[in-house]
Amino acid sequence: MLPLLRQPGANAAAMREVRLRAAPGRTQLAPEPFGETSAWCYNGTVPGPEIRVRQGERLRVAVENGLAEETTVHWHGVRVPNAMDGVPHLTQAPIAVGERFVYEFDAVDAGTFWYHPHQRGFEQVGRGLYGPLIIEEPEPIRVDRDVTWVLGDWRLMKSGEISDDFGNRHDIHHNGRVGNTVTINGRVPDSFAVRKGERIRLRLINTANARIFSLDFAGHEPIVIALDGQPVSPHAPDGGQVVLGPAMRADLIVDMTGEPGSRASIVDRFYQGLEYRLVDLAYADAPLRERAPDWPMELPANPLPEPDLNTASRNEVVLTGGMMGEMVAQDMGESVGPGAPGGMMGDMKPGGMMGDMNSMMGGMMRMMNSGAAWFINGVAADEGSHVMKPMLTLARDKSHVIAMTNATAWHHPMHLHGHSFRVISRNGQPTRRREWQDTVLVSPREKVEIAFVADNPGDWMFHCHVLEHQAGGMMGVIRVA
Ligand code: C2O
Ligand code: CU
Repeated sequence: MLPLLRQPGANAAAMREVRLRAAPGRTQLAPEPFGETSAWCYNGTVPGPEIRVRQGERLRVAVENGLAEETTVHWHGVRVPNAMDGVPHLTQAPIAVGERFVYEFDAVDAGTFWYHPHQRGFEQVGRGLYGPLIIEEPEPIRVDRDVTWVLGDWRLMKSGEISDDFGNRHDIHHNGRVGNTVTINGRVPDSFAVRKGERIRLRLINTANARIFSLDFAGHEPIVIALDGQPVSPHAPDGGQVVLGPAMRADLIVDMTGEPGSRASIVDRFYQGLEYRLVDLAYADAPLRERAPDWPMELPANPLPEPDLNTASRNEVVLTGGMMGEMVAQDMGESVGPGAPGGMMGDMKPGGMMGDMNSMMGGMMRMMNSGAAWFINGVAADEGSHVMKPMLTLARDKSHVIAMTNATAWHHPMHLHGHSFRVISRNGQPTRRREWQDTVLVSPREKVEIAFVADNPGDWMFHCHVLEHQAGGMMGVIRVA
């Protein structure tokens, strides 16, 4: 990272300049006897460098494409102007091989964010292109250590190389590319050194294509203080485990309450029968202090506009498709594919019928050829282009509710660009904390309502962050105008 540059002028925000080069490289993911693994890296490492700025600073990132294909960088969860959002064709031309693009935006919200390509993400992210973006509060809460864990998931072959079966039909139609090797900050971890009495702010970022984590902290009682970068009233996680779908983040306060010299295993319990030890907390012989500190944990709120539910528009969004999708959709009174409520059929207007019918048939042909598997309101997106008719147009600066129904047999972490939203209900029950998120994990057959003020103009992606589901069509455009 280049040194901090001060701009002339009394009130000018500080500017951080960073250079990111995406290119093939080699990295030691798995422990000995495995050797290095070929991966795609930012600045030669996996994950890419941690970009750290202060809230209110301006960030300028020059991205160079050293890959053999086009790319972009998306600043996941950061409320950037549309032109800086990194969505190929929709918000910018893809960065051609050997070319560069300069992103520049203000760090409006403090929190834990990350960056990744939005071009053929299922392969570019799956080969290692991602990194953490930490925006610090002007006055961070007091902790002994501020630690970032970038959780990665890889499908490695016996040779230690990455299996190249990206975007295969099976992964697309089921739960995505769940791998066989989980890394923390790009290494298969064994232990993480801690001291009794130590307080750690642990920033977890799930960069996996598809793996969902449910972390059991082995008798430690983590307190969740932020989700997807946004502060939440400090609380113990429901059910005691920290659940993170792809792209989601959690900031935890973990007080190290174990005895000196002891070890405790953090276990991921999300997939039943496939539980595994993620990493051990390894206590040093000397304690830092005898008991946990009582320092405040509450984070200052970010400048998010509060949605007004009394005036909010209401928008139904139905997710369908995938393996066993016919059955679930039928149970729930929905139909799969074109013709579902609000889908292409619903859009046809008298008079324009033939034209729309032609484009619909074209769409269906493309879908069949590309093996479209997933639908939002009956429409499967073409992942290659990212350009499509908006599925919703939301009035700017007004409040909106999106009511999502997951009429499929699988989990979907649904992500909206350019905004954070409050999760206001699940299956008709108001949520306890009305948490702000940018990605909400929706369980099979679940209904989730989100609410937000559409204050950021432009065309924004709304998609599933299981990258194989996105590639299989589970993506749409929401226009704020
Ligand atoms: Cu993390 Cu559409 O992106
Ligand atoms: Cu999905």
